[in-house]
Amino acid sequence: MGNGFVLRVRIDVTCQLAVAVTAERMACRLCRHVSWRYDRVMNKEDQAKDKANIVWHEHTVSREVREQRQGHCGCVVWFTGLSGSGKSTVANLVDEQLFAAGIRSYVLDGDNVRHGLNAGPESLRERHSEFFAARFGLGFSPEEREENIRRVGSVAGLLAASGVITLTAFVSPYRRDRALARECVERGRPDDFVEVFVDAPLDVCETRDPKGLYKKARAGLIKDFTGIQAPYEPPSSPEIHLDATSAPDQLAEQVIHYLQRTDKIGPS
Ligand code: ADX
Repeated sequence: MGNGFVLRVRIDVTCQLAVAVTAERMACRLCRHVSWRYDRVMNKEDQAKDKANIVWHEHTVSREVREQRQGHCGCVVWFTGLSGSGKSTVANLVDEQLFAAGIRSYVLDGDNVRHGLNAGPESLRERHSEFFAARFGLGFSPEEREENIRRVGSVAGLLAASGVITLTAFVSPYRRDRALARECVERGRPDDFVEVFVDAPLDVCETRDPKGLYKKARAGLIKDFTGIQAPYEPPSSPEIHLDATSAPDQLAEQVIHYLQRTDKIGPS
């Protein structure tokens, strides 16, 4: 198609915003200037937000413009596995390689996020009321983990939308919580969520015990410890399944290859 032509593509979308965004991206591949609009039919969550008088504000600098300039897209690479399986180690190795290649990436690590955004009641109590600490502090009960993963899924989605390859390292033991995190992230763009199962048997993690927590859990000094008193539900169909008894740099390579194969990053 020559310059000066305008192709009007009309897409009637009655499902999620992500579908409309994908349709727009497909249309963008066809021609350089696409004039498009869609009438969004609100889903239940949107309707609830509407009732609470909260309205999404579109960013002036679009995600597409950011990604075009930096030369790669944002996404979430979600590492899940037992404590001691090597999630943080592999995520940091991937981060190091991406950084060296000039790619914008960042690691959100469970232990670090629990120092701030998702701090426990013990640390909130230092500066806030007892009521506040009990209400907003997060421990390790199923509900508190659910909220931990909900917040992280949301933050990771925002980071991905800013064009960052966001590597998250959380035990995230419950399938449902991970599915909800995926749903939240993919509301921004389908295929944005790459689940990485860092698969190491409990006895291997327990032998490694890098922070001495398994020992404490066995001694009854920590309650609800994943793998000891609390369950870990392995992913049924993760995008990447790592045999975490292999060397961490080999595992990081597998993740990098996946990101290249799926065009999230360019070839090295
Ligand atoms: S998650 O289950 O809610 O996803 P998250 O990844 O944020 O957990 O935090 C896990 C880290 O907290 C572990 O790496 C471990 O160091 C520490 N930890 C402390 N108590 C527990 C517990 N009861 N279960 C699992 N991890 C715990």
